[in-house]
Amino acid sequence: MGSGKVSGRISKEFIDELLVRVDIVDLIDSHVPLKKTGANYVARCPFHTEKSPSFSVNRAKQFFHCFGCGASGNAIGFLMDFSHLDFVEAVEDLAAFAGVSVRRESVANSVASSAESSTKGDLNNLYQLMEQVAAFYVEQLRVNPKAIDYLKARQVKGEVARDFLLGYAPDKWSVLSEHFDQKLLVEAGLVVVKDDGLVYDRFRARIVFPIRDRRARIIGFGGRVLDDSMPKYLNSPETTLFHKGKEVYGLHELLGKNSKPQRILIVEGYMDVIALAQFGIHYAVAALGTASSSAHLDLLFRFSSELVFCFDGDKAGREAAWRVMDAAFLSLKDGRSCRIMLLPQQHDPDSLVREEGVESFTQRVQSAQALSDYFFDKLASGLNLSEVEGRALFFSKAKPYLDKLTEGAFKDMMFERLQLLSGMSGLVNTDKNFVMDVAPKLRAQDLNRLSSARVALALLLQNPRLAECVEQKEIEWDGLEFRGVELFRSVLDVILAKGAVNTAVLIEHYRNTPQEKSVKALALLDVFVPEDKIEDVFSDALSGLLKQASETSIARLQAKAQAQGLDKEELSLLLRMLSIK
Ligand code: UTP
Ligand code: MN
Repeated sequence: MGSGKVSGRISKEFIDELLVRVDIVDLIDSHVPLKKTGANYVARCPFHTEKSPSFSVNRAKQFFHCFGCGASGNAIGFLMDFSHLDFVEAVEDLAAFAGVSVRRESVANSVASSAESSTKGDLNNLYQLMEQVAAFYVEQLRVNPKAIDYLKARQVKGEVARDFLLGYAPDKWSVLSEHFDQKLLVEAGLVVVKDDGLVYDRFRARIVFPIRDRRARIIGFGGRVLDDSMPKYLNSPETTLFHKGKEVYGLHELLGKNSKPQRILIVEGYMDVIALAQFGIHYAVAALGTASSSAHLDLLFRFSSELVFCFDGDKAGREAAWRVMDAAFLSLKDGRSCRIMLLPQQHDPDSLVREEGVESFTQRVQSAQALSDYFFDKLASGLNLSEVEGRALFFSKAKPYLDKLTEGAFKDMMFERLQLLSGMSGLVNTDKNFVMDVAPKLRAQDLNRLSSARVALALLLQNPRLAECVEQKEIEWDGLEFRGVELFRSVLDVILAKGAVNTAVLIEHYRNTPQEKSVKALALLDVFVPEDKIEDVFSDALSGLLKQASETSIARLQAKAQAQGLDKEELSLLLRMLSIK
């Protein structure tokens, strides 16, 4: 993948500067033409189909939001969603848009710095080599009847072989070195270098399957023997271009047929993808001989909201299905779904689709079991849920998985189901964010029902300069209790540490953290405060909040004093708070 090409993490300061330098209105306008209405710029939402525009971009907050589908984020988030990029790619694109080059942290360790010497020019040479080698293999297939016969015997049509650029690596030890630059061949992993310096072709006497990334570049090859010798399949090793854990076979070809598939089917083998494509099922990809990782899932979820994992019906297949849980629970969230499809014994998708035809196969895909059902069924099997012991075990096995889920309705529902099945109460999802019940748009008269904590935090996120007001108050935070106090202090710390920031920078800071959802919701919360009243309203909300908070703590400490007494620290805290009050 593109991100592997340069060493060093992108520096956080650089990202913050970038988010201050670019204007999200210009950025989005260059992809989706915007119209100005009042303080906002609007358009029909690029993330869902709609007739009237509910997609809105706010220049002051440097933030977009769709009231229709709930999509929201800063400039980086927009590029990730709109252009299907991963985080690093989105930052690279944004930097290019701003006309600056990405600044990375320098790296001390030698592996990384040797990668640094691989410049962009070298990479282009490598990609070019891969294309030339693939073309060479295609040509070799044409002139090797044995290889053609093999594909014919497996009923692979010429059209599909062309679509997937199938080729043949001849039964020779060093044809590649005769045609291509050896240094590049080594870097591309196409030849093997022995300890004694001897160099020979990695793929020999094999059908080769070029593996493309989603930007259509060939990054590696798979190769299958023509007979039953071992190993049956060989893959390119990890190289500058090729990272097995992050790539899948067939994604480029899939996107060529349909850039927004309703679902993506994940199968095990190269030949499965090819057979399915030949039968018109163009939405299959294969993990490259590794278990599906959460990087695979995140990649695929960028293109479709439903992933169906297909496994052999045997023991190994069922074990593999269970291993997917780890990755799936990290990647699942509202709006995404996974299904598990177990095949009949002795079948893989290739053999099954040929035997029962495309309709029955599609039927199986459509009726694949939801991952949540599969998960609870599998966990429950072998346990006696009519006994407390069985239910407790069930609960303790399930909870660590559920804890990994991203906050949201899906997580809540999984916990409710666990509660129901295990008969345990009081285990509802406890880290639920305190702002999740806030509707993004409130009517003015609803405002007084909002707690001052929400108003204060929303204003602070939307106007980071307010951090100064808070500093001036020299607040004694110890002992203050209110919902959201930790988030409030954390936001304050971030603003003070980073200096001049805007909302987009704050949102960036909380990316992929448990607070991300709250921060976004509060950044969107319209508190209907005119520009020239912001300081006053904030200051009032803050005072109200501090008053409430200290009253709460005082009441709690006094109640405790009566019931069981206070220790020394609590007592001094109580006295201090009473004196401030
Ligand atoms: P299978 O052995 O199920 O192969 O391996 P298959 O796809 O059904 O192969 P055919 O039908 O006999 O041609 C599934 C996948 O596991 C990886 C490959 O990615 C293969 O497509 N694999 C398998 C290897 O990497 N090495 C091996 O030796 C075998
Ligand atoms: Mn097979």
